[in-house]
Amino acid sequence: MDHKPVLTDKVMQYLDPQPGKIIIDGTLDGCGHSQEISKRLQGNGLIIGIEIDKDLVKQAIKKNIRGLIVEKNNYKNMKEVIAKHNIRSVDGVLLDFGMSSWHLEESGRGFSFQRNEPLDMRFSHEEEKTAASIINSLPENDLADIFQQYGEERHARKIAHAIVATRKHERIIQTQQLVEIVRRCTPRAFFRTHSTTKIFQALRIAVNDELNNVRAGIQAAMEVVKPGGRVVAISFHSLEDRIVKSAFRTWGAVLTKKGVSASRAEQLLNPRSRSARLRAWENKS
Ligand SMILES: C[S@@+](CC[C@H](N)C(=O)[O-])C[C@H]1O[C@@H](n2cnc3c(N)ncnc32)[C@H](O)[C@@H]1O
Repeated sequence: MDHKPVLTDKVMQYLDPQPGKIIIDGTLDGCGHSQEISKRLQGNGLIIGIEIDKDLVKQAIKKNIRGLIVEKNNYKNMKEVIAKHNIRSVDGVLLDFGMSSWHLEESGRGFSFQRNEPLDMRFSHEEEKTAASIINSLPENDLADIFQQYGEERHARKIAHAIVATRKHERIIQTQQLVEIVRRCTPRAFFRTHSTTKIFQALRIAVNDELNNVRAGIQAAMEVVKPGGRVVAISFHSLEDRIVKSAFRTWGAVLTKKGVSASRAEQLLNPRSRSARLRAWENKS
């Protein structure tokens, strides 16, 4: 499946990649943004592309994009990653958080509630925690907190209770087992898809420790850009956006006072862009 990068024009406007610049793309995925950055570097400059998922890393290497070095790592380690290449600071960092369309459609790891796949949801195979291990081992209150905090799901407690009751007689290991439990706990059919989406999103955030990564990643990004350099971050969840917004306010200059959303035209073309919010920051020291 072709992954459409979101808000590409705005990313280019704020990141402003020019020949000779060094840019970190901390969330490489299908290289949509990196491809565009590469064009603008015109063969003179460097993109350090970081991706946590080894399958996506392999795909990115195969694309052979001019000026792109692909590194399998967590973006929160970007300082160590660039140090390997004897680089101490860069002109720009892009962080486009969350999962890839490939995760949802092709990974077979249980990101989509519309399929019946093992409940895995890990971006990185090295992590021990899977969606199934969380679902089958966490105390009821902790499960409910995950659904409430990361999914803002109103039936969080009821769903956590039903999970704990179910797992007494069967292990919950497939996506459709979880879908069925959520369905039973959501009285109004109209809200079922909405609730299931939120429960799956909350689990994915917990499995991949996404909010802690966002916190550490945005911090690292602000520290590695040179004076005059920029950080551009795209969030798909209000909690991520809040972390970015408050980090950008601590020092330097916020370039996007309100955050930038996709145009109507882009939203129609790429529904995933509807929840995207871009913020940009400049190192003014
Ligand atoms: C929304 S996609 C990025 C799309 C990309 N900008 C493009 O144009 O194709 C997010 C990517 O970030 C990766 N990712 C998530 N958490 C990460 C982390 N902590 N470190 C590095 N990559 C991460 C995911 O595996 C996914 O491929």
